[in-house]
Amino acid sequence: MRPLWYRNAVIYQIDPTLFRDSNGDGCGDLPGISERLDYIRGLGATAVWLMPFYRSPFRDAGYDVSDHLSVDSRFGDLADVVELLEKAEERGLHVIIELVVQHTSIEHPWFQQARRDRDSPYRDYYLWADEPNDEVEPIFPTIEDSVWSWDEEAGQYYRHLFYSHEPDLNLENPRVVEEIERIMAFWLRLGVSGFRVDAASHLIEQAGGGDPDKGYWLLEHMRDFVTLRRPEAVLLGEVDVEPQQYKDYFGEGDRLTLLLDFWVNNHFFLALARNQAEPLARALTHQPDPPRRAQYAIWMRNHDELDLERLTEEEREEVMQAFAPDPDMRAYDRGIRRRLAPMLDGDERRLAMAHAILFSLPGTPIVRYGEEIGMGDDLSREERLSVRTPMQWSNEPNAGFSCAPAERLVVPVIDEGAFGYQKINVYAQTLRDNSLLAKTGNMIRTRIGLREVGCGRYRAVDVDAPSVFAVRHDDDSTVLMLANLADQEVTVEVHDRDLEDFVDLLADTDYEQPKGHPLKLHLGPYGYRWLRRKQHLFG
Ligand code: BGC
Repeated sequence: MRPLWYRNAVIYQIDPTLFRDSNGDGCGDLPGISERLDYIRGLGATAVWLMPFYRSPFRDAGYDVSDHLSVDSRFGDLADVVELLEKAEERGLHVIIELVVQHTSIEHPWFQQARRDRDSPYRDYYLWADEPNDEVEPIFPTIEDSVWSWDEEAGQYYRHLFYSHEPDLNLENPRVVEEIERIMAFWLRLGVSGFRVDAASHLIEQAGGGDPDKGYWLLEHMRDFVTLRRPEAVLLGEVDVEPQQYKDYFGEGDRLTLLLDFWVNNHFFLALARNQAEPLARALTHQPDPPRRAQYAIWMRNHDELDLERLTEEEREEVMQAFAPDPDMRAYDRGIRRRLAPMLDGDERRLAMAHAILFSLPGTPIVRYGEEIGMGDDLSREERLSVRTPMQWSNEPNAGFSCAPAERLVVPVIDEGAFGYQKINVYAQTLRDNSLLAKTGNMIRTRIGLREVGCGRYRAVDVDAPSVFAVRHDDDSTVLMLANLADQEVTVEVHDRDLEDFVDLLADTDYEQPKGHPLKLHLGPYGYRWLRRKQHLFG
């Protein structure tokens, strides 16, 4: 049992549909993931986050669950989950799975029974009204007009914050909470190390009957429930709210274990757009410190649009201009439907620098499959589907993702342009020492060896150069981490007295090692350096 494993961890996010097809039917599956766990361990990651693999009509990438307790046949069966968990455990990898209980699919038997019969116990599993009774804006405003839809069979409107095929659950109903307990107990017993709590902020709103302040009990209840059954299990919450509210989601360390930090994520992109460290440094100072038994989770790109709602309108426009100049690159009037590499013009130096920053931030980093090799997007696919293309393993047909005929693939591979699988793939980058894969892998493995970053205290370091992001993490020893967001070289001075005798332990190139005080550090264009005191270099 390692209850605090998440403190010093790197999580690798996988979409089971798109990672690896083991049986040649054109769709990724669970045995395919099991087959590639060595790759993930080799990268240095210590946990995987699996996106939904439950039974589903797949109108929302499996977030439209129609049975939380069974595996969709496209991915395999329960025995394949067990095998994956066993293999992950053998390799020291924790597995986090999705808990999607803010809504279900319209095809869920609960909803089917609820709509059929007003007297069914399932009726109260959902939210009904004779007339739409709130003015909440739908999550996908360009797709849905309202959060209420009329259901002919039920003779009432039902509420759905997301798509109309995803009715919201009534979380004030104790029977629904019991169902959630059954779901959590089931997967915990099989051996998962926790859950990503989908739409956590909306979940608590529903648990509070529309008032979030009255709904936090649900997070406490869930945390208690999982910790009692499996002390190491975490709740990783999707919470895209203003940072002042983060403390409510952490509680006294008795609510979410890990909080997906959209505030820092958005300011990271503003920093990249401006080639300046200030927005990121500012964001870090303006968010609360997590309580003792919790922390932030940080990432660059996930499976959704890059939702920029935590920025001001002007800031958002700045990021849009820099990274999504064409309106077709945008989604839902708030975000960017591109992967990181195309946003940074495939510049490997800049991509590596961005990763160096990611791994120097306080919190648990998450890397989505394909980011480690700089995969691209397919803008011909609609909405967020642009960033959901198969993993590019090699230059074999179908990018080594599947041996099915190309027309049977669940999603076409990217097979042209600068991000086509012929150019960007794991195999090609494995062969090259200075590839993005080599660099990101090296960073992850090094980062895992730096307990100060996971478990220590974080502080900004003043270096008087706008393009340089500089931080230190202190535990028994100290790590100093710098990255240059601009493509001009720069030399900075670090005046912290206790940082003498610091030398590189990881850098984008071979730099001359600093001597004396103040520390004078040169950084090349998009350069980065992680330093430690000489005698602490190896821990
Ligand atoms: C997921 C989205 C999904 C939505 C509705 C979000 O948390 O990240 O991909 O569409 O939940 O379930």
